[in-house]
Amino acid sequence: MPTIKKIGVLTGGGDAPGLNAVIRAVVKTATNAGVAVIGLEDSFDGLIYPDKVRVLTPKDVRGILRLGGTILGTVNRGNPFAEPIVTPHGTFNYGDRVMEVFQQMELDALICIGGDGTLAIAYEFYKKGIPLVGVPKTIDNDIYGTTSCFGFDTAVSFATDAIDRLHTTAEAHRRIMVVEVMGRYAGWIALHAGVAGGADVILIPEIPYHFDRVVACLRQRDERGARFSIIVVAEGARPVIEHAHGGHAERLGGAAKFCGDELARLTGKETRHVVLGHLQRGGAPTAFDRTLATRFGGKAVELVLRSQFGKMVANHPPDLVPVPLGEVVGRTKLVPLDYDLLQTARMMGISFGD
Ligand code: F6P
Repeated sequence: MPTIKKIGVLTGGGDAPGLNAVIRAVVKTATNAGVAVIGLEDSFDGLIYPDKVRVLTPKDVRGILRLGGTILGTVNRGNPFAEPIVTPHGTFNYGDRVMEVFQQMELDALICIGGDGTLAIAYEFYKKGIPLVGVPKTIDNDIYGTTSCFGFDTAVSFATDAIDRLHTTAEAHRRIMVVEVMGRYAGWIALHAGVAGGADVILIPEIPYHFDRVVACLRQRDERGARFSIIVVAEGARPVIEHAHGGHAERLGGAAKFCGDELARLTGKETRHVVLGHLQRGGAPTAFDRTLATRFGGKAVELVLRSQFGKMVANHPPDLVPVPLGEVVGRTKLVPLDYDLLQTARMMGISFGD
């Protein structure tokens, strides 16, 4: 087994509460094992531009456990292999440049903390020969191969608090309030925050919804005297639009506005919509996310020391296990339609519009 003396760590993709807790755990555990840690700024840019690099010691990560964001910075820019890289030192092929700088820096391994996009890039570099370990990151909770990711609990807690607050005005004004939460492909945040916040309707990408079924649910609530309703919609949720010729079409973008406008038209009720957006990614991580992030960081260093490269740290309660990156990239963990929380929500009368 090669001796590991120096490793790089980077964060890529959208930020998520808990990234700093992972960095902190990596730096502390690696340093205690006699391994130096180099922080690479702005994702893989740290392996492109020589000035985007700094040594990280335990002193550098003091006080960051409770901070959102990432002290290393991050970028979210699609496929970096597509274009040549222009730097003050010349124009390079992206992949070649990263490989060259990795060698020049005499790094023994990399820890790449990121979502589906970053893990896919990491996997490409692993195949090119960089020994690396991935740490999954997403508030959407949709990374395949791990039951949970740090950031999700914080996002759900924030969204639940927002729904609690919206109940007040919904009830006072007898309105329909439509709350849009993140979740491009998967409805984990919508489902969990919707149930925790006592929503009446939850619309998720996994279940295309019908306006007439949502309207029926709202009318039923009016008949029972509730006269207000809370709808939680994931940004990727889509209605099924019936065309005169009998076909179906799916509408993209502005999930809450579209849903709210249409429900106002169909019910005649006062309707408002709120998009929680990036507020869900901000703020301090919850205790659960700090703990999970710390566990991920420590496990990633352990895998590096054991030369378990090309793997992603995954949460399989009660254990953390290595999962091959090749099994993870290109796949999305959707909410299973037989998930017990979804079933319970249905049994409690929450509508999914289907
Ligand atoms: O992948 C996490 C996520 O929060 C998605 O739910 C959302 O669509 C996206 O990031 C937003 O990314 P950006 O910060 O690039 O707008």
